[in-house]
Amino acid sequence: MTLVSCSQPEAAPTGVVAEKAMVVSAREEASRIGLEVLRKGGNAFDAMVATEIALASAYPFAGNLGGGGFMVYRTADGEAGSLDYREKAPLAAHKDMYLDSLGNPVPDLSRKGATAVGVPGTIAGIFEVHRRFGSLPMSELLAPTIELCERGVRVTEKQAERLASYFEVMAEVNGDSILFANDCQPGDTLRYAALARTLQRISDNGRDEFYKGETARTLVGFLQERGGYITMEDMARYQAVWRDPVVFQYKDLKVISMAPPSSGGVTMQQILRMMEPYDLASMGQHTSRSIQLFTEAARRAYADRNYYLGDPDFVDIPMEELLNAEYLKARMKTFSFDSATPSDQVSEGKLMLRESEETTHYSIVDQWGNAVSATTTLNGAYGSKLYCTPLGFFLNNEMDDFSAKPGVPNMFGLIGAEANSIAPEKRMLSSMTPTIVERDGKLWMVVGTPGGSTIITAVSQTILNVYEFGQSMQQAVSAPRFHHQWLPDLIVFEPEGFSDALKDSLRNLGYHINENRTPIIGKVDAIRVLPDGRLEGGADPRGDDTAVGF
Ligand code: DON
Repeated sequence: MTLVSCSQPEAAPTGVVAEKAMVVSAREEASRIGLEVLRKGGNAFDAMVATEIALASAYPFAGNLGGGGFMVYRTADGEAGSLDYREKAPLAAHKDMYLDSLGNPVPDLSRKGATAVGVPGTIAGIFEVHRRFGSLPMSELLAPTIELCERGVRVTEKQAERLASYFEVMAEVNGDSILFANDCQPGDTLRYAALARTLQRISDNGRDEFYKGETARTLVGFLQERGGYITMEDMARYQAVWRDPVVFQYKDLKVISMAPPSSGGVTMQQILRMMEPYDLASMGQHTSRSIQLFTEAARRAYADRNYYLGDPDFVDIPMEELLNAEYLKARMKTFSFDSATPSDQVSEGKLMLRESEETTHYSIVDQWGNAVSATTTLNGAYGSKLYCTPLGFFLNNEMDDFSAKPGVPNMFGLIGAEANSIAPEKRMLSSMTPTIVERDGKLWMVVGTPGGSTIITAVSQTILNVYEFGQSMQQAVSAPRFHHQWLPDLIVFEPEGFSDALKDSLRNLGYHINENRTPIIGKVDAIRVLPDGRLEGGADPRGDDTAVGF
């Protein structure tokens, strides 16, 4: 073991650079709507509200009214906090709701259609952010998206491909009556008239329109006709919750990230602090040694994640123990560069990581230095695939993030335990990791990504790419990524950027490597504050992601 090294000097920017303010999101339309709010004098929180809602029409794959998310912020004067607008299990939910009479999980029930839907949190989230920090009227923040819905959104090539690949299952879930059940071509324009009307009602009547008003009644009726569980009482009881973020030091960085019910902050903290005693920079990026070190830390951290973490309103999470310095040191005692530590047991579930980018992240810095990092999701691609035609949006399948049965993997191959079992009104454990990083006490990076279980490793690697390996924000976002999550006991590499020789050397050390499927990992959208105070965007070329600023 070597002593902690100094970090790399800051790399020159290679991404979009702006003087004062920036928004990076999954679609140019949404980034621009957020930026326009800043240009008008709105702050980062106003821009968050506008961008979150814009994504529901510009990026319906993951942007949503029918899902939920997490937002981490840091104000210009250094105050940090976070908002949990995660979905909740309905009151009628129970532990075994997705098991058949023999006690085996029926995955379709928690993944497709009305039975998979958790009580949506997004509208509560934006109203809570606005109530506490907003400076422009809500109607001004919703108006640009209402206009966009009416004007229509151009279908990109990537979007057309995605729509085509989910066409069949959408038709299965919805019949042929939905907006998307036709043959979309790149360049086509999709108009969202029903969504525009829903947003107009929310703009006129406020938060309760969604949770208690006509919109709630339409949604609940729609879901119940299709076998769903959500009632008017569930809607009325939903609340977004301010939570203390997870804050920790990695070398001279201060990392601020999401606390449970997301595992993101705790698990990233474990990974980075287990790696901290090593001189990662001198090992080099994507060398066998640096991949080994990251993998072994991730393996141990995910094992803890899957066992200990769940909704803190329901389970006692031994946070102090999990984050204790001696404990983390002891966890790495079994690690040696000579050979892989096999995961406790070999998973019987096959690798279920897919090209799954169905969540979406956006990063915002305003002209005063307030920062917002938000990740929002429907869970799967287009969520449960169930499209509420009268209201104009997709509904989540977040219930699959619960552990339907201890030991049985969910959609992301994550094995859960009792801490993440289903209970009425409980929030399902997440991996979403919206993060803000300070350096020398100043705002330095805003970062996050989709990618299910790979979110935590992708965010960790992006931070390390800049800090340890001297990359620019854009290079760090574009760089190839790899992932390990304890079970299945596999290092998953992206298709490009890792040589056969590297993989052979890891195999010789006892690592198992994904051979068949090489998914892309994450779609990171990030902002770095440069030493001169300007901002560099990192917009992931894996998607249509776009950084804009002024
Ligand atoms: O909260 C979570 O961890 C998941 N529902 C996130 C899903 C996701 O990132 C989908 N994209 N791969």
